[in-house]
Amino acid sequence: MPQSGLDLLAMFNINEIRKDFPILSRKVNGKPLVYFDNAATSQTPQQVIDVIVDYYSNYNANIHRGVHTLSQEATDLYEQARQKIQAHFNAKHSHEIILTSGTTDSINLIANGFSSLLKKGDDVIVSALEHHSNIVPWQMLCERTGASLKVIPMNLEGELIMSEYDKLISKNTKLVFVNHVSNALGTINPIEYIIKKAHAVGAAVLIDGAQSTPHIKPDVQDLDVDFYVASAHKLCGPTGVGMLYGKQDWLNKLPPYQGGGEMIAEVTFEKTTYADLPHKFEAGTPNICGGIAFGAAIDYMNAVGFNNIALYENELLEYATKALLDIEGLKIYGTSKQKTSVISFNLDDIHPYDVGTILDKLGIAVRTGHHCAQPIMDFYKIPGTVRASISFYNTKEEIDALVTGIKKAKMMLS
Ligand code: ALA
Repeated sequence: MPQSGLDLLAMFNINEIRKDFPILSRKVNGKPLVYFDNAATSQTPQQVIDVIVDYYSNYNANIHRGVHTLSQEATDLYEQARQKIQAHFNAKHSHEIILTSGTTDSINLIANGFSSLLKKGDDVIVSALEHHSNIVPWQMLCERTGASLKVIPMNLEGELIMSEYDKLISKNTKLVFVNHVSNALGTINPIEYIIKKAHAVGAAVLIDGAQSTPHIKPDVQDLDVDFYVASAHKLCGPTGVGMLYGKQDWLNKLPPYQGGGEMIAEVTFEKTTYADLPHKFEAGTPNICGGIAFGAAIDYMNAVGFNNIALYENELLEYATKALLDIEGLKIYGTSKQKTSVISFNLDDIHPYDVGTILDKLGIAVRTGHHCAQPIMDFYKIPGTVRASISFYNTKEEIDALVTGIKKAKMMLS
């Protein structure tokens, strides 16, 4: 029987979930930790920590190389993790999942690959809401190829202006790169529309899912997206590992990114031939433990359930937005109706760094600054913001502590 949102929320036991995260019971500066920097990196549940300890305690070995038992066990678990990632994103084939060191690495792999496919006269389109990692590699690509970089502008709510996108897109457009969710503002972008429009002119689309994947379960076949990239550490996994989904035809068309062991079929001094997917893009010894733990993190997130996560986080977002807006002089940047649980704000004309420092003294972790999205800060003509990014393991009590902390900061700094 289908369950209503309320039924699902009733099954979501926040106290039990918090017990999974050992770090949440530590103190910072003598105060209980309140962790609101989840968009920078999420915390790690015991279930994933156990997988990491088990790997190094019991079957640490190089993969795809050894006939010995340890190597075979590690290889099997690494490839099972790839299959878990494939199933999670609903990719058609497991070889369409390339394991990388993270979102930035995945984007650079594609930017490098397109060097040989673009020329002067071609356009590539990014958005005003991008993280630097989804701007700089494309600028470098344009410098190498002579292609032009065009930008979809944003409005004051922090949303992309689709009528401007319609004007930018043309038969010269070869690639479109947009994040699914803005890291600085939390806006959820209309990627379905963006992908459809790009495909109508024959352009490929890369979606940066670094900030969407902790909140949303994307279906890459349903989206019909060409490339989708993400990092494990944003969704309860370890740092240093991430994924690139690419449609098989695209991945076969692109040249290898790095040369080295494991990505070859045969090597002679005269000529090297390359391995099939996914190994063609996985030179060198990968982050084996990280890949296996990435699979465990995906299992964990799915056990909590993405419907539960969305319902609970939305409730916290509404609660926090209302409470923060009651503080005189507090302004929120990014007010789209379509957003994840990220609140970027400033307090009067106090520098965000000063607010963040006082919050830290109270045990509250937030990110301050430009959030690697300087064009967004330039648009609002501000040096940066304080960003509280909320996860499914946060609570209303923690939001109350944040509100009290901000009021204290205001009193001390005004
Ligand atoms: N990209 C990460 C953030 O938004 C680090 O904080």
